[in-house]
Amino acid sequence: MAQPSERPSVVLGVSGGIAAYKACSLVRLFTESGHAVRVVPTAAALEFVGAATWAALSGQPVHATVWEDVHDVPHVRLGQGADLVVVAPATADLLARAAHGHADDLLTSVLLTARCPVLMAPAMHTEMWQSPATGANVALLRSRGVVVLDPARGRLTGADTGPGRLPDPEEIFAAAVRLLARGATGPDLAGRSVVVSAGGTREPLDPVRFLGNASSGRQGFALAASAAARGARVTLVAANCALPAPAGVDVVPVGSARQLQEAVVAAAKDADAVVMAAAVADFRPAEVTNHKIKKSFAPGAEDDAPVVRLVRNPDILAGLVAERAAGRLGAPVIVGFAAETGDDSGDVLHHARAKLARKGCDLLVVNDVSDGKVFGADRNTVTLLRPDGTAAPVAEADKAEIADAVWDAVASLAGWLSGEDPCRTPASGR
Ligand code: CTP
Repeated sequence: MAQPSERPSVVLGVSGGIAAYKACSLVRLFTESGHAVRVVPTAAALEFVGAATWAALSGQPVHATVWEDVHDVPHVRLGQGADLVVVAPATADLLARAAHGHADDLLTSVLLTARCPVLMAPAMHTEMWQSPATGANVALLRSRGVVVLDPARGRLTGADTGPGRLPDPEEIFAAAVRLLARGATGPDLAGRSVVVSAGGTREPLDPVRFLGNASSGRQGFALAASAAARGARVTLVAANCALPAPAGVDVVPVGSARQLQEAVVAAAKDADAVVMAAAVADFRPAEVTNHKIKKSFAPGAEDDAPVVRLVRNPDILAGLVAERAAGRLGAPVIVGFAAETGDDSGDVLHHARAKLARKGCDLLVVNDVSDGKVFGADRNTVTLLRPDGTAAPVAEADKAEIADAVWDAVASLAGWLSGEDPCRTPASGR
């Protein structure tokens, strides 16, 4: 491992898939941000990108077999000295060999000797990713604490599309840096399955207009990215967000509150935690016209304006709590968000406590938005409120740090850290 004054040491394993060329950008992202990178390509990876490219980009010698510089024992030293091992792309074959403890080349030997966090970014054709053999290998690796990101969906090598694409190098890099920053704590959410909602719902009025809100979805995306980097399987139900999908996160795009509810309830069935960070419209237009609403130009109609009647949307968070109480939802930890201001009837915490009691969730992440604070800000101050009345302030932090604080609170609430789990057996054991 790197000494405190040294650059963090990353071993980047590259296995033999066409996405190997994208790993070149990953090397650059690491080196330009002050990491020392040793690239370990498999023999098949070298069919796609040559050793000279890896050496030039990393500024370090490249070993591809256990037979080079044997006196340095690279098959042991590289893994022992790493602060993080990333494998991108990880092919079906590499996942199989890693899962079964093979040591038939340098990269698999490194994986056996590494004691640091390991992050794998699979890339392969959809059929290979969805095959029972690959599924079992991935499950085995995850059960051992390896962070195996789900591949992205999209265009594959040929004309076909589906899950199997390597996530964007920038997103893999972001996940790697977060895992590295957690040090020994590593992938503490491995084996957990979580659902996060993000963004703001839009309630249509006619084919071109809607009632909406200004939520960007950034806090929800930060929550999803944090959970994935800590090893969780993440479904991110994203309402109208223009943000890149975090690596390893299954993004379900939705528009309205009712679509968001349908997607969250479906994903929550197998989840260990649900975090409702989305800004959900409480009301929607009672009538949605299938044609554009026109203004009248008739004489005397200048002051005419349509009256929009609204009806209530479901309270998704309270609905989840009710479903859980009725035994129809397993027992995920349920978390709400609340942006509050103080007024004559009470301060922010007074209103937040009332909301927590009304919603019945296990944790409420409270933003004080008095005087225009928070909206659009990169940094934020929140309070984590629990039903027993405890209020834990989180010092001003960026959205990624707040996301980590929320998952820390969820993990402690659920007893995931101590090994006891009052809510349910771990997802990995199901
Ligand atoms: N929420 C929800 N369904 C709704 C409204 C809100 O699930 N129809 C969730 C949000 O995702 C958030 C929490 O409830 O996690 C609190 O949202 P907020 O808008 O503050 O709550 P409201 O019940 O709408 O309260 P208010 O009257 O203060 O707007």
